[in-house]
Amino acid sequence: MSSRSNLFAPLQIRDVTIPNRLVISPMCQYSAGDGLANDWHMVHLGKFAQGGAGIVFSEAAAVQRRGRITHGDLGIWSDAHAQALAGIAGFIRSMGSVSAIQLAHAGRKAGMQRPWHGNGPPDSTDRARGEEPWQVMAPSAEPVGEGWMIPVEMSVADIAQVVDDFAAAARRSDHAGFDIAEVHAAHGYLAASFLSPISNHRTDGYGGDRSGRSRMLLETVEAVRAAWPEGKPLFVRVSAVDGAPQGWSLEDTVALAKDLKGLGVDVIDCSSGGILGAATAAKGPPPQPGFQVTYAHAVKQRAGLMTQAVGLVLTAQQAEAIVTDGEADLVAIGREALMDPNWPLHAALALSADPEWDQWPEQYGWWLSRRAKVLETLANELGDS
Ligand SMILES: Cc1cc2nc3c(=O)[nH]c(=O)nc-3n(C[C@H](O)[C@H](O)[C@H](O)COP(=O)(O)O)c2cc1C
Repeated sequence: MSSRSNLFAPLQIRDVTIPNRLVISPMCQYSAGDGLANDWHMVHLGKFAQGGAGIVFSEAAAVQRRGRITHGDLGIWSDAHAQALAGIAGFIRSMGSVSAIQLAHAGRKAGMQRPWHGNGPPDSTDRARGEEPWQVMAPSAEPVGEGWMIPVEMSVADIAQVVDDFAAAARRSDHAGFDIAEVHAAHGYLAASFLSPISNHRTDGYGGDRSGRSRMLLETVEAVRAAWPEGKPLFVRVSAVDGAPQGWSLEDTVALAKDLKGLGVDVIDCSSGGILGAATAAKGPPPQPGFQVTYAHAVKQRAGLMTQAVGLVLTAQQAEAIVTDGEADLVAIGREALMDPNWPLHAALALSADPEWDQWPEQYGWWLSRRAKVLETLANELGDS
């Protein structure tokens, strides 16, 4: 018998109906060639769509070539990049999921090594592979840590160019068929590094107090919203707290979220950390199950817009409770989906939200529903004997 699950209730945002509240979080694969998606990305993202997620997010896609974290990052800085992603967006839609793209610029955390090549600043081993470093840029000419590349302080013209490139990337994402766009303003990358007083020491209108430090992101979001169709949802991912002394705080995030709401942002995706340390989101609040859910809850309550919770959501019951208790509207999973691409389908079974195996692709569901009955009979027979 089917039980009522809030996690598996659809959610309408603007003109898009999301079939359930489970989201595959953006996850860099460091496997693109000059930013272009390939078969790896199709299989990687395609299996999550087959796996029943309501939304499948692409990894961070760089809006400028020099905005990639590593040589292997996905990009969306040309029409050819959008073309390479179009088939993936189409496949995700054909599976009944909503396709989403995260638009990003890595700022001072660009030009790093892939995690499995050292996860640090580039060195001679990268050069030996033919992967040269490039000049990185940031609000202030301060590296992310000792030994890391020193960025060039961005001019006002550089900022305007980034804003334009985010908007162009949004336009291309629409043409590629994506239905949700997210501006990446978390984990110490470019927009986050403007927000945080730890990394922004500008004395012009893009630095100083919170409103000055927020200006680059607000201009970006305004440009993206204008370029992105009215009927399609816009998300912003933030590091709700830096988790470092004198850093960006939850108070700051709530104020920012109110401004973003005014600009037509639909969902704040609440992550944390990353302002100091390696290319990947490191050095933030200590992780434990659901450790970032409180941020999503606070932003939802205090800024009055929808939120997405993420971070060590490990069980179906935990995800169900987040939605049922009104802590967030959407729940994203990352590494759990790497462990089990069918995590959402298994969650539906665990919550008795899919008793007939209807949510599975029909190529699998027909067989598996019968397999389940056989297994049940066998278990009963064993119980009787
Ligand atoms: C392989 C990998 C790549 C990631 N790449 C991105 C990314 O491109 N953009 C982003 O905002 N977060 C990225 N993250 C962070 C995840 O989106 C997510 O917030 C984090 O893994 C916490 O969720 P989890 O505990 O369910 O894995 C990445 C995480 C992993 C494991």
